[in-house]
Amino acid sequence: VTLDPSLRVRLTEHSLPHYTGTTLFDELARVVCRAECLPRKELYESWETARRVNRQFKARAGESTRVVDLACGHALTAAILLLLDDKLETALAVDRRLPESAHRLKEALTARWPKLEHKLTLVEGDLKKVELTSSDIVVSVHACGRLTDLVLEQAVAARARVAVLPCCHQFGPDNTQTFLHWADTALAQDMTRAFRLEQQGYRVYARTIPSEITPKNRLLLGAPLTPAPL
Ligand SMILES: C[S@@+](CC[C@H](N)C(=O)[O-])C[C@H]1O[C@@H](n2cnc3c(N)ncnc32)[C@H](O)[C@@H]1O
Repeated sequence: VTLDPSLRVRLTEHSLPHYTGTTLFDELARVVCRAECLPRKELYESWETARRVNRQFKARAGESTRVVDLACGHALTAAILLLLDDKLETALAVDRRLPESAHRLKEALTARWPKLEHKLTLVEGDLKKVELTSSDIVVSVHACGRLTDLVLEQAVAARARVAVLPCCHQFGPDNTQTFLHWADTALAQDMTRAFRLEQQGYRVYARTIPSEITPKNRLLLGAPLTPAPL
């Protein structure tokens, strides 16, 4: 029996028999199950997002590359990125309100991968206050509504590479439902985000994570074509 990856049920030791393989994913899933604090869906969302970000954005030689996970929740996406690319120096994971179990999950991950202790920092605070640089890789999984636009704006201002998985699409005066009669309005909004990134001098990669995990599965990645001005 395969598990439904879209459910928010908490992963516990009961799920261990589903993850007996030798892959990094199975090993990660076993650590997460033993920590007994993470909704199942988050494991799959974070893994699928991090894999695609890792495929597109690597640590750059001669530069210390930092991952910045904004609206991070349990910060699992940041942790997985560090596991997938040893050359990433550090990750800063920020949420206005870290879930109580975020530190518990970090402890469990650190027990298995001790390098995460110093590499991964969790901070409770407003993402608007985070100072970004052009060597950062900014990720944000399901930053609700306009929060995704704030993440994009901040990343663009710093000329940082950025990846967002938008959710909770909202429509207001600055993002009208122009395309209401033509297309799914959430899709129109994400395409508008992608075009805006292009206009801001970014190369855009429009990807998806599997829809069996979440219907909010559009992953928008962007890398600046020009370096940051001095
Ligand atoms: C839908 S959750 C996504 C959490 C996580 N990225 C995930 O995929 O499970 C949205 C998160 O945004 C956080 N958040 C909302 N406004 C924020 C802000 N201004 N600064 C930082 N985090 C914020 C919330 O606390 C919440 O954890």
